[in-house]
Amino acid sequence: MNTVWTPSSWKEHPAAQQPDWPDHDRLDSALKTLSAYPPLVFAGEARSLQAQLGQVAAGNAFLLQAGDCAESFEEFSADSIREKLRVILQMAVVMTYSMGVPVVKVGRIAGQFAKPRSSPTERVGDLELPSFRGHIVNDQGPFAEARVPDPNRLVQAYHQSSSTLNLLRAFTKGGFADLSRVHAWNQEFVAGSPEGRRYDQLASEIDRAMRFMRACSVDTESNPNLREVDVYTSHEALILGYEEALTRQDTLTNQWYDCSAHMLWIGDRTHQIDGAHVEFLRGVGNPIGCKIGPTTPVAEVLELCERLNPSRVPGRLTLVSRMGADAVTDKLRPILRAVTDAGHPVVWACDPMHGNTYTAPNGRKTRHFDVILQEIAGFVAAHRAENTWPGGIHVELTGANVTECLGGADALSDTDLDSRYETICDPRLNGRQSLDLAFRLAELVTAATA
Ligand code: TRP
Ligand code: MN
Repeated sequence: MNTVWTPSSWKEHPAAQQPDWPDHDRLDSALKTLSAYPPLVFAGEARSLQAQLGQVAAGNAFLLQAGDCAESFEEFSADSIREKLRVILQMAVVMTYSMGVPVVKVGRIAGQFAKPRSSPTERVGDLELPSFRGHIVNDQGPFAEARVPDPNRLVQAYHQSSSTLNLLRAFTKGGFADLSRVHAWNQEFVAGSPEGRRYDQLASEIDRAMRFMRACSVDTESNPNLREVDVYTSHEALILGYEEALTRQDTLTNQWYDCSAHMLWIGDRTHQIDGAHVEFLRGVGNPIGCKIGPTTPVAEVLELCERLNPSRVPGRLTLVSRMGADAVTDKLRPILRAVTDAGHPVVWACDPMHGNTYTAPNGRKTRHFDVILQEIAGFVAAHRAENTWPGGIHVELTGANVTECLGGADALSDTDLDSRYETICDPRLNGRQSLDLAFRLAELVTAATA
């Protein structure tokens, strides 16, 4: 069923999870505005990312994909962008050192606004309201007017993505990512908490390596490689009108790229093989991801690989498994085997968050640090057993000191959840939990290869 692809051919396919826009003239005018705006990313950057992901697929690099569950129009500030980037860089240093391979850094950032929902309505107090679908669509306020989809939000999402990306580019190229500075932040973490001290040895090893380099005149001031990083952007390509409006033909290659982000992914709820999301993403040149949940049959995973990457280009397709800690090893192994046997060079990434969410007694959605870690351990074990490369992790985090996930460096318990529960969607790891996770992952992967 490979008919001709165009940026709008998705409209011939059933599109799950699309908002019910009340006013089609206003929608059309917002989409028209967006299609006249400049692209947010350049196709050449998407190609560089794809080449780096090709290295991940080959087992020579690791993917760290991280950021908010849903970005918020209200919590939009230089501080929150900087703190999120800081955590990602701190994790990346630990992972680069312990794994001994480059870490490809991709944010769930500068466009991660839309949320798929399990039901079109939700109960809030005594009211049955249309579900909150992310700030690119509606508002989470507990009353009916807030929930009406507003096309102006598409334009606002573009502008917020644009300034977020601008600041990311400034930070990543302007000195903020200096390796010695990021390492110093990690030393503060290690010195500043009882959990952190467990990583004393690893941190001092990195310290010695840094001093050795400096002694050999390889210093971060004069070496751009040690001062600058590439941090790419990604989000779930859910609202297809928005993605289509930012899809442009690259003048160098004539290929179409979705220029709303470097990488786009398809969620576990929208990867129907003949659905609109698969149709749209199969035609763009960006590297793409697809979430795979525990109910996806192996045969369907193979069909998705075939449809999304028929030429088997390494780095084009990342499969992000989100199985749940108990199921991961058993569910993943047959998939690893089948995809490998079919000759598909995918990046294998582990989303240890979404299969492990539950509601605490006080009604807050949460996840436990130990269970998140357990899914990663199961993921690594499955890859060891099948002799494939556990290529990356995909996590929801924030730099802020929130109390949304349990456990971790500060041993948060469910009575702590209320004190700083700020997410507008799923619970995120806070800065210290995220760094703790990077150190644990380092231990896991080092043990697996020892
Ligand atoms: N440029 C290299 C990289 O991105 C090294 C590097 C510099 C780095 N600053 C960093 C790595 C901060 C991780 C975090 O890998
Ligand atoms: Mn989420």
